[in-house]
Amino acid sequence: MNPMSICTSSSSSSSSTGSSSSSTKAWIVHGVVVGAAVAVALGAHAYLALTRSAKFRSRVVGIIPARFASSRFQGKPLVQILGKPMIQRTWERAKMATTLDQVVVATDDEKIAECCRGFGADVIMTSESCQNGTERCNEALEKLEKKYDVVVNIQGDEPLIEPEVIDGIVKALQAAPDAVFSTAVTSLKPEDAFDPNRVKCVVDTRGYAVYFSRGLIPYNKSGKVNPHFPYLLHLGIQSYDTKFLKIYPKLPPTPLQLEEDLEQLKVLENGYKMKVIKVNHEAHGVDTPEDVEKIERFMRESNWS
Ligand SMILES: *[C@@H]1O[C@H](CO)[C@@H](O)[C@H](O)[C@H]1NC(C)=O
Ligand SMILES: *[C@@H]1O[C@H](CO)[C@@H](O)[C@H](O)[C@H]1NC(C)=O
Repeated sequence: MNPMSICTSSSSSSSSTGSSSSSTKAWIVHGVVVGAAVAVALGAHAYLALTRSAKFRSRVVGIIPARFASSRFQGKPLVQILGKPMIQRTWERAKMATTLDQVVVATDDEKIAECCRGFGADVIMTSESCQNGTERCNEALEKLEKKYDVVVNIQGDEPLIEPEVIDGIVKALQAAPDAVFSTAVTSLKPEDAFDPNRVKCVVDTRGYAVYFSRGLIPYNKSGKVNPHFPYLLHLGIQSYDTKFLKIYPKLPPTPLQLEEDLEQLKVLENGYKMKVIKVNHEAHGVDTPEDVEKIERFMRESNWS
């Protein structure tokens, strides 16, 4: 088998799913090719790991954590977006991913659970005490009957997430046995450079995360955005090795994590490796009621069905 066949299967396995899907595919495929070239450069051992990846970490579950209570937006998962609850839109996108064996909604709320069962989703009830999505994923994972090697944490507030992005981070984690975590980045818009809510990321030459920051990284000595530098914006979606997910919430907080208020830094500060893929994704996150209007306008303009 040669590494190119991975690319072929990833680009032919998914149908057209939105305005940006073809370019998304191109980026991801590019990432896989780079990964393969590196593995070859590293020699037979890494090459073998890559070609065996079809079997490695093969059982994959997508979990959509959804809670009703939210300080900024009560009942957010159930808000209607062009006539469908947001959680249903997210779930439908996740179901289109080819790498997921199962997609489940993990929630503490009976109304959300009822709505999700109504459109056919598998639902796992989790406790109200879960502090964050990662804990909710972990609890859901323990309650699932089947055993999984990889969990994708699919944020319910990105209802237009491309299935290719989900598949991309899963394949990246399967192809990088030394990583325990994978996530995605996209190009940072210059106007977001100094917005602390937009998390920036820098990666090494093999596509492993070096650091995440709310500040602009790298920082040009002019103090301004360098229009020629390809800055990266972190997207919320992430996948973990399930063995790592068991210890992740238990790892004590680390200094950089606390200073930046970024959970993922705990992974790097503890010396674990994180694989990053670059995708072409317009973020349409829904954090406030105003965002609903914005996303609906976008969907109408792009003839979303
Ligand atoms: C900083 O940004 C400018 C463009 O604004 C670029 O010409 C320069 O190479 C960058 N790096 C340094 C070290 O100045
Ligand atoms: C989630 O919450 C738990 C408990 O407060 C905390 O230990 C953990 O660091 C948080 N984040 C992650 C990613 O586990």
